[in-house]
Amino acid sequence: MSENLFDLTGQVAVVTGASRGLGQYFSRALGRAGAKLIVTSRKAGDCDAFVEELAGMGITAHALTLDVRDEKSITAFGPAADAVYGKVDILVNNAGCNIRKPALEVTWEDWNTILDTNLRGAFFVAQTIARGMITRGYGRIINVGSVTSVCGSAGLGPYGASRGGIKQLTMSLADDWGPHGVTVNVLAPGWFKTSQNRVMYEDEGWVQYLVERIPLKRPGAPNDLDGAVVFLASEASRYVTGQTILIDGGISVGNTRALVKKS
Ligand SMILES: NC(=O)c1ccc[n+]([C@@H]2O[C@H](COP(=O)([O-])OP(=O)(O)OC[C@H]3O[C@@H](n4cnc5c(N)ncnc54)[C@H](OP(=O)(O)O)[C@@H]3O)[C@@H](O)[C@H]2O)c1
Repeated sequence: MSENLFDLTGQVAVVTGASRGLGQYFSRALGRAGAKLIVTSRKAGDCDAFVEELAGMGITAHALTLDVRDEKSITAFGPAADAVYGKVDILVNNAGCNIRKPALEVTWEDWNTILDTNLRGAFFVAQTIARGMITRGYGRIINVGSVTSVCGSAGLGPYGASRGGIKQLTMSLADDWGPHGVTVNVLAPGWFKTSQNRVMYEDEGWVQYLVERIPLKRPGAPNDLDGAVVFLASEASRYVTGQTILIDGGISVGNTRALVKKS
């Protein structure tokens, strides 16, 4: 009988930022592949409601509260997560935020909010969860990046810095923790309709502008991330570490189209 490389039965996955948006997409995909879940955010009520939704799908899940900007919250989180099902095999480091502003209008507070959440938070969540993974000699860490991990964009200076930082951090952690059986990769989504970018998708003109620049000619749909997250969480990616996988309909490769003269 052939091995199902994508089966996550018996695995435990933590998903941060799972009170809404992409964190919920990732959770459903991992749960459908067989993983038990620990879903987290700052909002206990929203995570509890999501646990109920998952139970309705036949997926076992538990909610824990975590603020990725708070040192004490993160330090307590690793042991608390290990205690829920006795281990954590998979971490999807997804909690994040964005503030879109021209660079001249960015404040110190904006910078700190974005970098503390998206980069410092991701590092220390990975660290607290990796302690248990390293002890057990197995782990899959999936850091959520963005197209701005590899491309620049006006209005996204601090956000892009945090996402470029995630890519660099991931390569270093992959080198650090690979010898202990822990892989670390970046899953970098393109443009998905969530509360984080409501300002974009509620503007028809902006949607049209964006879709014109996406080679696959549409925004991301909720299930478009399933294959990549299950791949990176599973045996299928056992020889992959330190890599950045873009799930973006090709928007990151279409940017230089303007350099080609239309005949
Ligand atoms: N949507 C896209 O097109 C897109 C594209 C590329 C990358 N991303 C990235 O994907 C991730 C999810 O984005 P999304 O679009 O789903 O955003 P979203 O709908 O705004 O959700 C953000 C999630 O992060 C959590 N969060 C924010 N600050 C937190 C903190 N200090 N501590 C703990 N949790 C915190 C929020 O939970 P609470 O508010 O309940 O705490 C929420 O669950 C983000 O890292 C984002 O940058 C999104």
